[in-house]
Amino acid sequence: MCGIVGYIGFRSAREVLLKSLKRLEYRGYDSAGVAIVNDGLKVEKKKGFIENLKVNFDGTLGIGHTRWATHGVPSDRNAHPFVDCHGNIAVVHNGIIENFMELREELISKGHVFTSETDSEVVAHLIEEYYDGSLKDAFFKAVSRLKGSFAIAAIHRGERKIMAVKNESPLVIGIGDHENFIASDIPAFLEYTNRVIVLRDGEVCEVSDDYVRVYDMEGREIRKEVQRIEWTVEDAEKGGYEHFMLKEIFEQPRAVDDTLRSLLARTSDHWGDFQRIAIVACGTSYHAGLTAKYVIEELLHIPVEVYYASEYRYRANVDDSYLAIFITQSGETADTIGAARRAKAHGHRTLAITNVVGSSITNYVDHVLYTNAGPEIGVAATKTFTSQLMALYYFAITSAERMGRISHGRYEELMRSLHRVSYWIEATLNLEDRIAEEARRVAESGNMFYIARWLNYPIALEGALKMKEISYIHAEGYPAGELKHGPLALIDDGMPVVALVPEDRLYEKMLSNIKEVSARNAYVIALSSREDVEKYVDTLLRMPKVDPLFTPFTNVVALQLLAYHTARVLGREIDKPKNLAKSVTVE
Ligand code: AGP
Ligand code: GLU
Repeated sequence: MCGIVGYIGFRSAREVLLKSLKRLEYRGYDSAGVAIVNDGLKVEKKKGFIENLKVNFDGTLGIGHTRWATHGVPSDRNAHPFVDCHGNIAVVHNGIIENFMELREELISKGHVFTSETDSEVVAHLIEEYYDGSLKDAFFKAVSRLKGSFAIAAIHRGERKIMAVKNESPLVIGIGDHENFIASDIPAFLEYTNRVIVLRDGEVCEVSDDYVRVYDMEGREIRKEVQRIEWTVEDAEKGGYEHFMLKEIFEQPRAVDDTLRSLLARTSDHWGDFQRIAIVACGTSYHAGLTAKYVIEELLHIPVEVYYASEYRYRANVDDSYLAIFITQSGETADTIGAARRAKAHGHRTLAITNVVGSSITNYVDHVLYTNAGPEIGVAATKTFTSQLMALYYFAITSAERMGRISHGRYEELMRSLHRVSYWIEATLNLEDRIAEEARRVAESGNMFYIARWLNYPIALEGALKMKEISYIHAEGYPAGELKHGPLALIDDGMPVVALVPEDRLYEKMLSNIKEVSARNAYVIALSSREDVEKYVDTLLRMPKVDPLFTPFTNVVALQLLAYHTARVLGREIDKPKNLAKSVTVE
């Protein structure tokens, strides 16, 4: 999920690899390492910053890695590159090898000795197992055994080449003169060359000093186009998107799929049965928790209470024991950690949902579920939110089945829907131009409302939070039925009201609430898959039709885009809004 780099040529590999890794630093990482061929194969790897690496060897062929842990805590041992048992082969990997457990057992039974807890190490031993004088042949054989998402690079001390493969993790090749580069991302080598080959899923490449060959998985050579990149390094870091936030919004189909994949790969979820749940979090993570309340109550029929961590910490402990779930993308939010410690001290069973392996929260809870969104750079949370929803829906659906609250048929239907979430998000992303048009109108206003009901009410809160954070427009989310109890007094001529109108059991009620605000001359922007909603509103954003329980996923993506484009029209500092920090480590 983080960075891999590789160099073959005439320069100091040490210098190129370390510089290239620095260029990938913006992606976030917890450990770093390099392997260089130099009269043998030398490796230096450490937990922490690239600066911690003491590389006192050099050569002209090597690979490097920045790790964002998914399997095994961040540590020196779990850092990449990994070598085989004899120290001939070095491997770096980004992504997740789903079938690593069975491969690991197979290799151990053949006498291989493992030194880490990662999924990645199997690749080095698999190549060793198949090696018979040709890195290329062994690499093809090893890769054909792998399931999951991966970008992998491998070198052998006795051969002058780098073998690499891409499947659902990024990988690009930089073409130079008598030198070539590989990396997860173009900025890594843009200083040396702007001629690039972009690999597609299922492509393998063989990179030497003077040639680059690309093959399909069966070993047939493929002709690839060399593109010239005219971007600056900064543009390239954002993958050509204007801001990290937009890049991360567009990464959501992959982020939710990676999260689902890693959840499905878990062997057991042993938090047992429970009769009550408390969910505790801050900000956007709180909104994920509030959405989950509705989903869990719907599927499990047990009470769920949701608290802001800063409030939960200081309330009286009045309940019998329950399962306490703490949601924090960073795993470092002081209030959420404080709340988890307290819950544990009172004897509640505790589960954390976080995006960062080995983050502080994981030390204070009994169980952890990881989202696999990859590092999020924009201060406004986007892909981590939908990945949290994915983890929470997965939790609700699998618990409901295990506790016998839903039929097997319903379980299968819900799991199918979970697998379709990424397609539904993709379809929502296609609305970007329409949403950007609407944003021009929204940007002219100083105040706005978001209204919704049931499990989209938290999405109204989240839409409003996104708008506040990055555009600085005053926006409030409300349950649609609550407006007439006060806030309706604030509706002015032309004030934007965003209404979420999914085709669920509250559809008719939402239409009545829309009429209430229209009658006060609000400018109503509706998000609905139903065309006839158009009659009642000023503008309709036609949403893809999805299973009603899953509309939070699509609605929130549309609202992220609305906030983003509004802030863009207003020329705001989108990735780093004023007064805010990505992770709040003080109370
Ligand atoms: C989201 O856009 C915000 N930046 C903020 O509300 C955030 O969700 C909150 O600080 C919680 O962070 P955490 O998930 O890392 O605990
Ligand atoms: N799954 C691998 C690990 O945990 C690779 C993570 C990454 O992409 O950095 O080490």
